[in-house]
Amino acid sequence: MDWLQRFLTSTIGLKVIMAVSGLVLVGFVIGHMLGNLQIFLEFVEEGMGREALNQYGALLKGNKLLLWGTRVTLLVAVAAHIYSACVLTLRARAARPANYKQHKWLSGSYAVRTMRWGGVILLAFIVYHLLHLTVGSEVTPSIEHCKVVGDGLQCPIFDNVVQGFRQPGVVLFYVIAQLALGFHLAHGIWSLFRTLGLGNPRFDGIIKKIAVGTAAAVTLGNVAIPVSVLVGLVGGAV
Ligand code: HEM
Repeated sequence: MDWLQRFLTSTIGLKVIMAVSGLVLVGFVIGHMLGNLQIFLEFVEEGMGREALNQYGALLKGNKLLLWGTRVTLLVAVAAHIYSACVLTLRARAARPANYKQHKWLSGSYAVRTMRWGGVILLAFIVYHLLHLTVGSEVTPSIEHCKVVGDGLQCPIFDNVVQGFRQPGVVLFYVIAQLALGFHLAHGIWSLFRTLGLGNPRFDGIIKKIAVGTAAAVTLGNVAIPVSVLVGLVGGAV
């Protein structure tokens, strides 16, 4: 087990932890976005988006194993991701020569600095987002939790989302956070491929396309929801 401890504390081991935990988080972010995008089924037929979103919430909340399995996996992934980022940052600082300067997008010190600040904005966003749409608390006192009705669970996710995105300040914060997420994903996915051994310049073009394409799709999809609610395209005008 000595080799495992040595690997997990080595720089490459920490990069692998960062890549694998990042992959788990990317998977969640894409799945979560696809689930939330069902709100736009309202455009197909009124009530369809509401039903799909509420059912998606009930499916997750109604299955304790799925709910807690997802929560614990996310928590472990976020903790591992932040831990490896902090240790790697401290090591890079200790090793870096004073005049190191490289301003290349998707790689180099500029992108890495953007990643660190982006990561801090994302962490703040996740805490706010959980208070806003999951816990309720003072941030959204109007939030309604799932209720047991007969044999099933009824979750008013659609109404919570519409209620939650009617304030321009909240939507602005979401948009800023999604832009930070987009930059974070673009560089993160790019680095992930390299850490997992696809750093060959032959693949650079395609990896860049995958990284930027995924980041842009997630950003656009996530921004579309709060903005559409705010302007009254979904959920009706206030
Ligand atoms: C702007 C687009 C987003 C919308 C509309 C949205 C919507 C929601 C809603 C409605 C819930 C509550 C679900 C429920 O109570 O069943 C939720 C929970 C959650 N969201 Fe989001 N979300 C968005 C973006 C994100 C992003 C970018 C992340 C991560 C970086 C994220 C992470 C989470 C987590 C971790 C939960 C808690 C799930 C649980 O109950 O364990 N969300 N989101």
